[in-house]
Amino acid sequence: SKIIIINGPNLNLLGVREKGIYGDQDFMTFFTALRESYAGVELSYFQSNHEGAIIDKIHEVGFAIDGIILNAGAYTHTSLAIADAIAAVTTPVVEVHISNVYARESYRHHSYLAKNCKGVICGFGLDGYRLALESLLTK
Ligand code: DQA
Repeated sequence: SKIIIINGPNLNLLGVREKGIYGDQDFMTFFTALRESYAGVELSYFQSNHEGAIIDKIHEVGFAIDGIILNAGAYTHTSLAIADAIAAVTTPVVEVHISNVYARESYRHHSYLAKNCKGVICGFGLDGYRLALESLLTK
């Protein structure tokens, strides 16, 4: 199967930004290892700090592949446009957050995206992406 991980704003700084919250591993190291351990899966990766670019990517892949793993960063809590993009496509989307957003500020407790997603995984660090992958491979 074909699955993409889409990371939103500031997630290019994983391993550098707020290490106490997001850990010290950079995403490409993690992604390379994940791809190796799921050699049968065509796993790709896209990151953007721009809302429209994330929407364009969801449109581009959202009728063609088997799953989208989406960490939209702070857009999770603000973006009706990304919520609408998820609703518009046919590929299932799993929402992921590295941190436990419910243990943080109240403005991180609401997601505009969650109702249009297959499910939400948060609080398990980078392992959340693997858990999301497992959920998309289990039909
Ligand atoms: C995040 C949680 C968001 O609230 C935050 O804005 C992020 C990262 C997470 O992965 O824990 O940028 O999505």
